[in-house]
Amino acid sequence: MFVLHIALQGCLRGDDVAYGLTADTGGHIRYLLDLVRACDRDPASDRIVIATRLFESALGADYAVPEEAVSDKMTIVRLASASPDYLPKEALHGEVASFSEALVAWIAAQPMRPAMIHAHYADAAAVAALVEDRLGIPFVFTAHSLGRVKARAMGRPPTDTPSLAHRIAAEETALARAALVIASSRDEAEVQYATYAAYDPGRIRVLPPGSDLARFHAARTCPRVDASIDRFLREPGKPALLALARPVARKNLAALVTAYGESPELQARANLVLVAGTRDDLDDLDGGMAETMRDLLVLIDRHDLYGLVAYPKTHRPDDVPALYAYARERGGVFVNPALNEPFGLTLLEASAAGLPLVATDSGGPNDIVETCGNGLLVDPRDPAGIARACLRILTEPGLRDRYVAGGERAAAAYDWDRHALRYHALLRALGAAEAPSSHPRQLLICDIDNTLVGCDAGLTAFRLWRSEQEGLAFGVATGRSFHSAMAILEQQASPRPQVMITSVGSEIYHLDANGVSYTADRAWRDTVSRGWSREDVRAVLGQVPDLVPQGPLEQRPHKLSYFGDAATARRVRGRLDASGLAASIIHSHGRYLDVLPPAASKGTAVDHVRALYGLTEGNVFVAGDSGNDVEMLRVRRQAIIVANFSDDLATHAALGHSYVARASHARGVIEGVAHFRKMPVHAG
Ligand code: GLC
Ligand code: MG
Repeated sequence: MFVLHIALQGCLRGDDVAYGLTADTGGHIRYLLDLVRACDRDPASDRIVIATRLFESALGADYAVPEEAVSDKMTIVRLASASPDYLPKEALHGEVASFSEALVAWIAAQPMRPAMIHAHYADAAAVAALVEDRLGIPFVFTAHSLGRVKARAMGRPPTDTPSLAHRIAAEETALARAALVIASSRDEAEVQYATYAAYDPGRIRVLPPGSDLARFHAARTCPRVDASIDRFLREPGKPALLALARPVARKNLAALVTAYGESPELQARANLVLVAGTRDDLDDLDGGMAETMRDLLVLIDRHDLYGLVAYPKTHRPDDVPALYAYARERGGVFVNPALNEPFGLTLLEASAAGLPLVATDSGGPNDIVETCGNGLLVDPRDPAGIARACLRILTEPGLRDRYVAGGERAAAAYDWDRHALRYHALLRALGAAEAPSSHPRQLLICDIDNTLVGCDAGLTAFRLWRSEQEGLAFGVATGRSFHSAMAILEQQASPRPQVMITSVGSEIYHLDANGVSYTADRAWRDTVSRGWSREDVRAVLGQVPDLVPQGPLEQRPHKLSYFGDAATARRVRGRLDASGLAASIIHSHGRYLDVLPPAASKGTAVDHVRALYGLTEGNVFVAGDSGNDVEMLRVRRQAIIVANFSDDLATHAALGHSYVARASHARGVIEGVAHFRKMPVHAG
């Protein structure tokens, strides 16, 4: 496969990139080069070209060389655009038209056209869209960072800054036009992009970047680093709660000092080690860092934490592995209390070095902790919760070992070679277009967790069985969000569903003709929006004592989720009824509480899909295992309960008509479908 990357910013070259040389010679160039190098190693690729701008400048002569061969397969091609000079990213929109012309001409002169274009950053997407108009070559898009997120962080409307307005417009084009958008985390896919007009979650796929963790795996302590910490501490041998972050408000280190300062038990069991950047004179720090640092010192004083907290003044970049090793050797915990963490590279590094985690539930850490099982997620605004999580890891037998073992999986899960394999599989699939059947004869909708997945052998059997079921459309219905569902389905190599009912029936996605991306069902969104006052429901439930919300990524436009038992569910019901707010409440696994629009449920969603396909009830099968499947099993005639059910499903009053399989998980599903197909209605 021949893939052409477009990246217009910074000082890009094949080797020895001078990171930091200009403000735009940073993370996204690093990402691009790591990606193409991994692609270079994958036999699936046979040609890789990076098209970038050619410019003359004192920054270096390399950037004026039209072609740089990086490897046998890989070339950097530099094309002249309107301006001959180096330009910062804010000025690049003026180059889009001229660069596109040059690129179209370059492609036309090649013996073979690229199969796919990959645009990096908004301005490159604007180019890719023009190239597609002219040559019909589809493109995928990686944003690297988003204009709207930046505008929000600056606290200004994007219209105030013309370059930002251009960037956001280009990002809208990218979202509307790209065959697929590649995101690094669920947070990016589900929260950051959600503010765009052209947002459709099904068109975005989460493909976490690799990270080079080898030097953290090999992390050893260093006497100089140990001494820089120990000089603060009364009992330096105690476990260390280690935080490593620049002293900026978003990193929220103050919450950790408060958590520690307010918990005598935590102070008795552990020291706190804050590695908050490097400073010569505190007053020379800029960008609010001096203020943040001063706040931390005030908190340490207020809680009288002398002898218990270390905050080394400086460390070298290559000391970082030794800092993790310091905490590991003392049986410590790595804590990241950031208000939002877009990806969470330090979590992977700490895991590779052998530390369990306590991490913010906002942003990338969700994905990492779910994938690796390497720690606990906390609400970063809840110091007591942070303290509780740290104490659990320090005291609960076996927990620490389990999280450390989980952390060992991190390196394998976040590896560029693995990324390249998945990336090429997606690009190949986009090219091969296995369109879903629009007139199936039957429909099977399965819950995911503990029904479709949960038993590897069962899923293997299902895969085979499924491939032999001509005319049977296969879909899933799950409590998970689209990207959370996609993550587990891809991880388990499940057959690709042609319909995905997600977030407990409140969202429906249909597989596109390209066989890879999905489109949200807008009609369903309109249906469930009727009679739903999300903010009112949220406000009322915010007053229910002890009702704990699930993480921010579990809160969806048409689903509010909490933790709670059956008694809590009754209290929530009472409170909503008293307020006259319409909502349905779904309780499952004895601990999840989902509050949904009155019209949304897995059951009503399946019926919507059934009607779309024009199928009769006798040609629809549904399968599930737990409380959040009841609404689906109750209203469908051919309902399958797998043997490993929970929430007393088999004896549930409303489910007397269902078939309780002898086999568990996916085998139970196969058994159930076979059972119903033998019934007289099918025989006739
Ligand atoms: C999934 C969702 C969660 C929901 C639960 C039960 O675990 O992620 O938000 O509460 O399913 O429906
Ligand atoms: Mg389930």
